[in-house]
Amino acid sequence: MTETISRVNRSKEDARASYNKLSRWYDVVAGGTEKKYRDWGLEKLSAKPGEKILEIGFGTGHCLVSLARAVGPDGRVTGVDISDGMLAIARERLQTEGLGERVDLRLGDAANLDFVEAGSLDGVFMSFTLELFDNPEIPRVLQECRRILRSGGRLAVVSMTKTNPPGIPVRIYEWFHHVMPNYADCRPIFARQSMEDSGFKIEDASVSSMWGLPVQIVLGKKP
Ligand SMILES: C[S@@+](CC[C@H](N)C(=O)[O-])C[C@H]1O[C@@H](n2cnc3c(N)ncnc32)[C@H](O)[C@@H]1O
Repeated sequence: MTETISRVNRSKEDARASYNKLSRWYDVVAGGTEKKYRDWGLEKLSAKPGEKILEIGFGTGHCLVSLARAVGPDGRVTGVDISDGMLAIARERLQTEGLGERVDLRLGDAANLDFVEAGSLDGVFMSFTLELFDNPEIPRVLQECRRILRSGGRLAVVSMTKTNPPGIPVRIYEWFHHVMPNYADCRPIFARQSMEDSGFKIEDASVSSMWGLPVQIVLGKKP
């Protein structure tokens, strides 16, 4: 039997409110656990001096700092996040690191990226964010990523995933996601398959375990 993806049963307003509340605590609650996987994703994206990169769902801004350093003074990083609480923390972090001038931060729903010109970016990065979009929105977000990347541009996605059949930790996690969607809000998805379906050529894909939950790190290229 084909494994299905759980639906997202909260509104964007609830997501924003939840991340606003969580923003001051996010690094304490999730930062340490997720860092290793985010860093692998950044390694796969491998942003270079002079490049233009977008991060979707930048959270407290750790990856924005790495990306801004990687693209250097001639590059540009843009970030979009739905939470103003997260944006305030990310902005503070970038200023402390002296990188504020290199990064544009936008508040908004990344299901709509019409503020980015078609074919204008070298790379897009997403960690633990694609799995927050409801099933019909995942292809829409990926199509938007494809639209804004130049030919040969890269998309790196770090996301929870699951095997078929799913292991016990995933079954327990999905139950939590169903009953407490604001606490276990990321849910396992099939990022690699969705990226392929959206026309990305998969360059690299690996799966690693986070407390028994599989995490997929995928690099795709726009042909
Ligand atoms: C689980 S956190 C991950 C943060 C960061 N990428 C990391 O790995 O630490 C998800 C982030 O996505 C943002 N987010 C959720 N829904 C979004 C949407 N529709 N558009 C843009 N950002 C969104 C949240 O505000 C939050 O900052």
